[in-house]
Amino acid sequence: MKTVLVTGGAGFIGSNYIKLMLKKFNDYQIVNVDNLTYAGNLENLAEIQNYNRYTFIKADIRNRKLINKLFDKYNFKYVVNFAAESHVDRSIEEPEVFLTTNVIGTQVLLEAAKNHWKIYPDDKYSTEYNDGVKFLQVSTDEVYGALGKEGMFVETMPLKPNSPYSASKASADLIVRAYNRTFGLPINITRCSNNYGPYQFPEKLIPLMINNCLNDENLPVYGDGMQIRDWLHVKDHCEAINAVLHKGQDGEIYNIGGNNEKANIEIVRLIIKTLGKSENLIKYVKDRPGHDRRYAIDNTKISKELSWKPSYTFAEGVEETIQWYLDNSKWIENVVSGDYKNFYLRMYK
Ligand SMILES: NC(=O)c1ccc[n+]([C@@H]2O[C@H](COP(=O)([O-])OP(=O)(O)OC[C@H]3O[C@@H](n4cnc5c(N)ncnc54)[C@H](O)[C@@H]3O)[C@@H](O)[C@H]2O)c1
Repeated sequence: MKTVLVTGGAGFIGSNYIKLMLKKFNDYQIVNVDNLTYAGNLENLAEIQNYNRYTFIKADIRNRKLINKLFDKYNFKYVVNFAAESHVDRSIEEPEVFLTTNVIGTQVLLEAAKNHWKIYPDDKYSTEYNDGVKFLQVSTDEVYGALGKEGMFVETMPLKPNSPYSASKASADLIVRAYNRTFGLPINITRCSNNYGPYQFPEKLIPLMINNCLNDENLPVYGDGMQIRDWLHVKDHCEAINAVLHKGQDGEIYNIGGNNEKANIEIVRLIIKTLGKSENLIKYVKDRPGHDRRYAIDNTKISKELSWKPSYTFAEGVEETIQWYLDNSKWIENVVSGDYKNFYLRMYK
């Protein structure tokens, strides 16, 4: 049995990833460590909560003592670090927690991994580690900053993050890289574009617009709505992480993207059309400070080296996602009302 520490597994991407891994591999044991911030929702994992190969632990990745204890208890082979504060708007309101969770929390995990995986932990020059171990840092394309009308992000570009969120993720990437270069810790970093799909918290563009449309509420669009993002279905992201975990070259960074550049307003119009609503719901609001204009990912490296490619077209992915939100109105209701927070108390206390 291979034991994987997944952090932030009660969030949007982490919960999709855990379910994918358990389905794909019979010999994987997953330990999900999440401190259940507003974004952590155990209802995302309700269908697997009683699996014997799945364990949930409510813990903060910044808690050094506890993280070390978990490394003592479980013989982790891999760490996949999703845990993060992930919403740009919130990072403008409250940057500090982005630094403590995204940067310090990552360093806590790296240090524990180094100390537990090193064959000769007392020898500072030794770079020998247990066979096959790996630390995978889930990062974002936002670390590169913004693009003009032309060009795409490639892995060798300098990091020029513009928001406190992306700056904290870029800082985490650098400390992960440093643990590889200084201590020889086996690592990979993945940098993915915007995700969409089931179980996304309805503060992010696509679920927010679907939910507001369904309730005939205004659809707030920042500025002129012409901010361009490269959209990828969450399941394709999870498959890419899986490819990097098993086949990624030590120390390498892999961009992950869907070759799906869309302006925000195009997405809003598509959702309105699919749900048969009126464009009068659109309400342009003052743009957020430092809003990056365009992101685009060059995914040549992961496609060529690891033979990964997205399986969804944007049209089918969005249609499936809208249908999921229609079929799971209770999930959205619980999130919007805050009732999802009681799930932990009901199930685990
Ligand atoms: N959503 C995207 O489009 C996207 C794109 C590229 C990269 N990413 C990255 O992927 C990762 C997951 O993103 P997401 O959209 O699933 O985020 P999310 O906000 O839905 O989930 C984050 C999870 O981390 C947990 N968490 C937060 N602070 C913690 C702490 N101190 N200790 C333990 N757990 C903590 C939360 O409770 C939550 O369950 C993040 O690192 C994010 O930067 C996201």
